[in-house]
Amino acid sequence: MSQPVAVITGASSGMGLAVTKHLVAQGWRVAMADIDENSGRKVSTQLGDQVLFCLTDVTSYSQQASLFEKAFSWGGGRLDLFAANAGIADTQFLHENNYHYDEKGLPLPLNLKAMDVNLTAVIQGVWLFKHYARQNKIPGGKVVVTSSSAGLYSMQTNPIYTASKHALVGLTRALGPILQQQNIQLNAICPAFVPTALCPKDMLDRFPKEHITPMSTVIKAYDTFLEDNTLCGQTVELSLDKLYFRTKPDYPNESQRWLGEESASFWEEAYKAPIS
Ligand SMILES: NC(=O)c1ccc[n+]([C@@H]2O[C@H](COP(=O)([O-])OP(=O)(O)OC[C@H]3O[C@@H](n4cnc5c(N)ncnc54)[C@H](O)[C@@H]3O)[C@@H](O)[C@H]2O)c1
Repeated sequence: MSQPVAVITGASSGMGLAVTKHLVAQGWRVAMADIDENSGRKVSTQLGDQVLFCLTDVTSYSQQASLFEKAFSWGGGRLDLFAANAGIADTQFLHENNYHYDEKGLPLPLNLKAMDVNLTAVIQGVWLFKHYARQNKIPGGKVVVTSSSAGLYSMQTNPIYTASKHALVGLTRALGPILQQQNIQLNAICPAFVPTALCPKDMLDRFPKEHITPMSTVIKAYDTFLEDNTLCGQTVELSLDKLYFRTKPDYPNESQRWLGEESASFWEEAYKAPIS
């Protein structure tokens, strides 16, 4: 049997790189996607034939589509895992008053790159993964989306990042159970602070050691999702050495419970086709 194949975005550094190395050690083949070409090529050379570095800006749909096409064909016509991991912090702060203006004196739009990378690109990636996963010998596969503990709580310094990571939790909860019907298990990880290049170097050195979640917890979460085919639509919080499966908030009354759990057939009627 051929080796399982993964596409990992943001694979040149941090969690994406750690997961890449872990999977390669388990016999996987990994298509590593990143905008950081230097590090990506260096690591892929070290890891050898089991990896393929694909220079990809996930915010470009055509580049992401080309990544999936290359990975599927390089993998021998199979694609088992999509780790939608690339992510960035806010590139402009909504709470600050650093406005720039056009020639008419109107404020220029806020830079929403964090939404583009952390959310829109993930949704397009899932869309592309589905296309290839259904062509697998046994149709289906796994998706692990990287949200954050900021997707469960909030990070006041990074409101756009927080919004994007919350959206991934919502996406996972809404889409996960439906994709399970297509034998695709989509789940999300919500890591607490893991020391990576995402954090400024001087902050890394000063960060309280007792609040650091090690990379081994990230690997543990991936192993859990890869081993268990019944998990779908789950959001797991990673803190220190533990995984905490987080459920939706409690319903405050029977009406909200009905809306959340029993109204599906009603809505299915309304959304038989997308509303244009
Ligand atoms: N480090 C933490 O404490 C922490 C906590 C919770 C969630 N996260 C999330 O974990 C994920 C991985 O981050 P990390 O901590 O390993 O950081 P990292 O900076 O080490 O890795 C992120 C990688 O994504 C790549 N990337 C950025 N924009 C890209 C784009 N447009 N296209 C392709 N690749 C791109 C970067 O080049 C980098 O290699 C992110 O989604 C991040 O939001 C991190």
